Amino acid sequence: MANSALRLADIDAFYGDSHVLQKVSFELGEGRLLGLLGRNGAGKSTCMNVSVGLLPPRAGSVEVFGAPVTRLAPEMIAMRGVALVPQGRRVFRSLTVRENLMVAARGVLPGARHAPWTADTVFAMFPRLNERRTQLAGYLSGGEQQMLAIGRALMSNPRVLLMDEPSEGLAPQIVAEVMATIRRLKESGLSIVLVEQSPKLVFDIADDMVILNSGKVAVAATAAKLRSDNIDLHQHLGVF
Ligand SMILES: Nc1ncnc2c1ncn2[C@@H]1O[C@H](COP(=O)(O)OP(=O)(O)OP(=O)(O)O)[C@@H](O)[C@H]1O
Ligand SMILES: [Mg+2]
Repeated sequence: MANSALRLADIDAFYGDSHVLQKVSFELGEGRLLGLLGRNGAGKSTCMNVSVGLLPPRAGSVEVFGAPVTRLAPEMIAMRGVALVPQGRRVFRSLTVRENLMVAARGVLPGARHAPWTADTVFAMFPRLNERRTQLAGYLSGGEQQMLAIGRALMSNPRVLLMDEPSEGLAPQIVAEVMATIRRLKESGLSIVLVEQSPKLVFDIADDMVILNSGKVAVAATAAKLRSDNIDLHQHLGVF
């Protein structure tokens, strides 16, 4: 397998007394795209929160490019090159499009493979954001806000990009645009975790798939293996 970009090993995570992740392990290889699937409440976002340091795990370890980051502060983990596009986009609605990008700007990390991202390169990738650069983000459409959330994450020039349900609440045509963007980012060499609820969306683009069910890993395999075995993903997702 490629070098490990992000590794979660035996993660136990809690919200208060609620044991939300139970011995969760998975590994994202460098330059690969891992699809993380699971129904509502399966623990997908919790995995993302643990990965970026927003929720310190009670047990287990997180590594970024082989270096332990478990229980480091979120800004320290961000400095190691991990960026999250959060579920629900969470753009700063009262800032302009350009300001949303600039607040997240950071220099190039050592070892970054792709050209550094700046507001200009983000605008070149998303011409619609360029047209709206001086507008308040709160007035953008859902699809534009998603592009902005992706652009904002890219501004930190990450090596590992975590995307939490980027297609949520978007019309099919916009979802297709978002998926095309993700494909381009993968081709640029980024290592990506794509969280989704729909296996259909991720199957085409993912190298590896992990399915969470009630806070546990139910399936972890390459997408090719799942395809050749003709695995019924819906069964593992717990959707009947
Ligand atoms: N801040 C919180 N406090 C307490 N419980 C939480 C909190 N956030 C999530 N949970 C619970 O933890 C479990 C896992 O939630 P999580 O958000 O990780 O699921 P998810 O797979 O991302 O779901 P969705 O697809 O709906 O986003 C759920 O039972 C949820 O209710
Ligand atoms: Mg979620």
